[in-house]
Amino acid sequence: MTDASQFQDRLLSLGLARVSEAAALASAALIGRGDEKAADQAAVNAMRDQLNLLDIAGVVVIGEGERDEAPMLFIGEEVGTGNGPAVDIALDPLEGTTLTAKDMPNALTVIAMAPRGTLLHAPDVYMEKLAIGPGYAVDTVTMAMSPAERVHALAKAKGGSASDITVCVLERPRHEAMIEEIRATGAAIRLITDGDVAGIIHCAEAGITGIDMYMGSGGAPEGVLAAAALKCMGGQIYGQLLFRNDDERARALRAGITDLNRIYQRDDLVRADVIFAATGVTSGSILAGIKREPGWVTTETLLMRSKTGSVRRMSYRSPVR
Ligand code: FBP
Repeated sequence: MTDASQFQDRLLSLGLARVSEAAALASAALIGRGDEKAADQAAVNAMRDQLNLLDIAGVVVIGEGERDEAPMLFIGEEVGTGNGPAVDIALDPLEGTTLTAKDMPNALTVIAMAPRGTLLHAPDVYMEKLAIGPGYAVDTVTMAMSPAERVHALAKAKGGSASDITVCVLERPRHEAMIEEIRATGAAIRLITDGDVAGIIHCAEAGITGIDMYMGSGGAPEGVLAAAALKCMGGQIYGQLLFRNDDERARALRAGITDLNRIYQRDDLVRADVIFAATGVTSGSILAGIKREPGWVTTETLLMRSKTGSVRRMSYRSPVR
């Protein structure tokens, strides 16, 4: 692990916001054009170009896929000029490729940076996730509880009843039983079609988004990115890797994971101070989407540092070239 004191997070944070902005701007022309691949590729190219301008010795630990699957921003790729602190990079150049292609809410570009060796090298498998926002005692809700028990426990901690709780869930057939159980408690469910990083961040701003808790399975890499966001904003996340076959187990072993059943807490997923940047591509409740006017384009970026707990929302306007 790198000496965390050498992690120049204050200086690097604005650079990270630029990386996130660049990816969003590159995907702007592809919003609502029905082409997920093209939107993703544009974001990947721009994110990589900007990242390589930063004075860091970066290694992608959460990226576009393993080396043989992803030509760019693959896991293990070295990024940055090489002059600067040794850091781990977790990224998703376009979180919500389908949301972008269909011009639906909450597509984001996302990137996190932390000292080398401190982000979980999550393989590209599913992860069972449970998240709540700040202000609750640790283990107010746990993975051992059933979905209904979590609703009642959170309602009690919030000082209300189950009907005061809204849970965000990815709309998938695999979640049908869980959705039924949650609804039977009287709690509301906000179903999302994609984008669980945004879904989890929503818990950290419950007053604005109306979402108290996130539950269900989604990508493990997205789990690490969401943990980075909650480490900055406050809140808790629990994650457990899910394996469908031996190939997925082998991926985890290759990534250095030995305990395949471990339940990770937020600070196991992100073990040191982290910088997190996300830029809105399509509008949502946490970030405005890209706004295009004749001659101008405007983005909104969330830039956060866990060391200080600072949360900036930055608007960036650029002439269209
Ligand atoms: P992409 O941006 O790669 O399309 O991923 C979107 C996403 O919805 C993630 O937010 C989520 O973790 C994952 O896909 C869920 O996977 P699946 O669609 O297989 O349920």
